[in-house]
Amino acid sequence: MMSLTLQRIPAFSSALFCRCSSKSFQRHCSRISSKKVRVSDALSSEETGANVRIQGWVRSVRPQKDNLFLHLNDGSSLQPLQVVASSHLNTRDLTFGCAVDITGTLEKSPSKRQNVELHAQHIKVVGECNPVDFPFKIKERHSLEYVRQFPHLRCRTNAFSSLLRIRSEATAAIQSFFRDNGYVQIHTPVITSNDCEGAGELFQVEPAGHKNDSDDPNPHFFSVPAYLTVSGQLHLEVMAGAFSAAYTFGPTFRAENSQSRRHLAEFYMVEAEIAFTESLEDLMKVMEDLFKAATEHVLSSCAEDVELFHKYTAPGRRDQVDLMLKRKFNVISYTEAIDILKSSSQNFTFSTEWGCDLQTEHEKFLVKHCGNVPVFVINYPYELKPFYARDNQDQPNHTAAAVDLLVPGVGELCGGSLREERLELLSQRLAQAGLADTYAWYLQLREFGSVPHGGFGMGFERYLLCILGLHNIKDVIPFARFSHSCLL
Ligand code: 4AD
Ligand code: MG
Repeated sequence: MMSLTLQRIPAFSSALFCRCSSKSFQRHCSRISSKKVRVSDALSSEETGANVRIQGWVRSVRPQKDNLFLHLNDGSSLQPLQVVASSHLNTRDLTFGCAVDITGTLEKSPSKRQNVELHAQHIKVVGECNPVDFPFKIKERHSLEYVRQFPHLRCRTNAFSSLLRIRSEATAAIQSFFRDNGYVQIHTPVITSNDCEGAGELFQVEPAGHKNDSDDPNPHFFSVPAYLTVSGQLHLEVMAGAFSAAYTFGPTFRAENSQSRRHLAEFYMVEAEIAFTESLEDLMKVMEDLFKAATEHVLSSCAEDVELFHKYTAPGRRDQVDLMLKRKFNVISYTEAIDILKSSSQNFTFSTEWGCDLQTEHEKFLVKHCGNVPVFVINYPYELKPFYARDNQDQPNHTAAAVDLLVPGVGELCGGSLREERLELLSQRLAQAGLADTYAWYLQLREFGSVPHGGFGMGFERYLLCILGLHNIKDVIPFARFSHSCLL
């Protein structure tokens, strides 16, 4: 192996030498002898004089008499790297938005704005960018609404690249939280036959070009109609029969009117299921701990990116987030929530009678009423909740052991419940809904080693809206899918 490598090097380099002019050969050598670094590493580098190679996209070009100043970004940090070059390295194709490959040395910067800058020896424009046609303009601050029109390009803007770094860190923080607390991660299926929430908001899955032929004894690709999952809960409940705690974090689909600012047709849900739990308090503790652990991690690991939103898009949000982290979340019952809404002087659009579902306007009011600190609402009317919610068997108001977490700026962030683990009660409820056959396997879970258990789901995009103080869910997902949206 070793001798093979030694033999190949001279042959390779002499071939190159023959084909290249000596100048471009020098450039080539300088590129391969320079260490490739990312902008974020260069910015925090203590070492000056090091030969480096940096690739990225130009965020600003300032030609001066003798020197050329560039700002370079490669997605690794909000702050760009300043590049200083002799003006003879300037070319017509070196414009805002173009992709470049630069070699040079990292030097201490005389400016207070940055510690280091790159003194360029060679600049290669890898991909040109016509600044007239490029939808983003140098020095202009584009609104989130404007950049939303360019889903294929918006990751090149400061705000959206910050958002995506935060989203990536938040994902890692959530995974760490569950791993550190002994949860097993389960990849629940995307294609399923169940409508866990029973709301009928399903996208059906069939092969492209499929014709629903009524004469065909099996008109479906699978043996039954199949859908994109609305929740991984039922599959997690299977796993809660073998693991004390399981979670999933994946794409979730709802065919509901998603023109609203907090609904998507495709979103990410974090779901946890915990066996041997008989109290909503246990579930609420996990939700609160998850929210706080993930948020603390995001605030410390993405400080600059988060500040961009807290400073320019949602002034005052940082204080609110700090308050949420400091204070214990409130707990009220659904019945108390209804009393609060009824005794308020606010005119609500939707009914506040006992038995009606809480709407966004109610949720936001309740959060404000509780001092802008997240609030758990527990024990909802039995009839409002899906078949799996545990019957509290109470009177006169019949409730289920369900809980929603409401947060500032968003309303509902998490929905969860204790699950009906009692075979008889579950069989009755499924039979009443005509679902006993469909859920025969689910009923079996209650026959074989059934334990009291419960869980919840947290909308990941709503979580990001809450901590960043953003208003539109379409601004916190890489590619937004909602009703009547264009798809890439
Ligand atoms: O309250 P939901 O419908 O609860 C469930 O699906 C349970 N089966 C979860 C469980 O117990 N494992 O949804 C959970 C959360 C909501 O609180 C909301 O934050 C988010 O998912 N969510 C949506 N987010 C974006 N767009 C939509 N269309 C959403 N629908 C729900
Ligand atoms: Mg819900």
